[in-house]
Amino acid sequence: MKRIYLDYNATTPLSEEVRAFYTAELLDYANGSSLHEDGRGVSKKIERAREQVASLINAKPHEILFTSGGSESNNTVFNTMVTEAKKRGRRTAVITAIEHPCVLESARRLEEYFGFEVIRLGVDSDGVVRDGAYRDALAKKPLIVSVMTANNEIGTIQDIKSLAKQAHAAGALFHTDAVQAAGKIPVDVADWDVDYATFSAHKIYAPKGIGALYMKTGAPIEPLIHGGHQEHGLRAGTYNGPSIAAYGLAAELAKVGLADYGAHTRALRNRLRDGLLSKVPAVKINGHPDRVLPNTLDVSFPGAEGESILLHLDLLGVAVSTGSACASGNLDPSHVLVATGLGPELAHGSIRFSFGKYNTAAEVDYILDELPPVIARLRAISTVKA
Ligand SMILES: Cc1ncc(COP(=O)(O)O)c(C=O)c1O
Repeated sequence: MKRIYLDYNATTPLSEEVRAFYTAELLDYANGSSLHEDGRGVSKKIERAREQVASLINAKPHEILFTSGGSESNNTVFNTMVTEAKKRGRRTAVITAIEHPCVLESARRLEEYFGFEVIRLGVDSDGVVRDGAYRDALAKKPLIVSVMTANNEIGTIQDIKSLAKQAHAAGALFHTDAVQAAGKIPVDVADWDVDYATFSAHKIYAPKGIGALYMKTGAPIEPLIHGGHQEHGLRAGTYNGPSIAAYGLAAELAKVGLADYGAHTRALRNRLRDGLLSKVPAVKINGHPDRVLPNTLDVSFPGAEGESILLHLDLLGVAVSTGSACASGNLDPSHVLVATGLGPELAHGSIRFSFGKYNTAAEVDYILDELPPVIARLRAISTVKA
């Protein structure tokens, strides 16, 4: 059976172009810091990739720090705040309740070990940061504000430009985790005027284990990994030349293909959404109706458990995600859906479909044929009724 992959927010395959390029690059083994011709060749490719990644997000090349991915980029920003707190005499961090765990945990570390106050902003039922709560948090004169550009589960997009402007007016630094936004919607760090932004290669058809941190010129930054001169001493460790080069190509392709990508995934997402709404009683679409990633559809099926739906779809050849983190042995409902006010039953019965460039309308139609009877069966045996 040919598998149908609808989990592009978890990770993407290498695109055909990136795969061909990357496999050739893997043969280029030289150390990008070596002074000989071989090393200089790798260094040139790294600088080319820096330009390509910068161009995707409208940054200057020197504002791009290559890291091992989104988690490291986010950790680097929060780690920087330890020294920055001493310099600026501020010790409050503002985040949202729906951030990725690598932000939530980095902030918790500041709270637990470095005496920070962490304000976790709630969101409205669509997943949008509430204006009033944001203003109240800024009144506490935070050191750093971190709000994700787009949520990985429900796809809700925040107004980063306005949030950054307000944070700056309160004297705070502003960071956004833009891992899920890049390649799906326009990202313009200069126009948004953020101090830091986080990116990951494996969400845009490039290899895993590589990513970037945008640091606005002059923004303070402390290395997380010490002991090497790479990245101007900001990130030690021998360069992963092939992955960086492949990331550069993927960024260039993402920029060129952005409009088509949005149109293609949005059409598939809407086809599935409309089909489910007409074929399955009492479904609830989570996330903002318009300010949402074009490829992301999060749906609650009251009266049916998310994990059971996922396993049935898996047997039917379809790969999706649930909101709850069952893979880690934790059956708590999604912290994102709970933050939007969903009760445990709806939060437990949610499925995230996330589309990508290799999905087709025929795949959506297959799901629309196969999923409704699965939901009906699960509801029939459930003790909780829809
Ligand atoms: C919003 C968000 N931030 C950060 C990450 C972590 O990125 P990486 O896997 O590159 O460490 C992810 C990946 O799932 C994500 O969705």
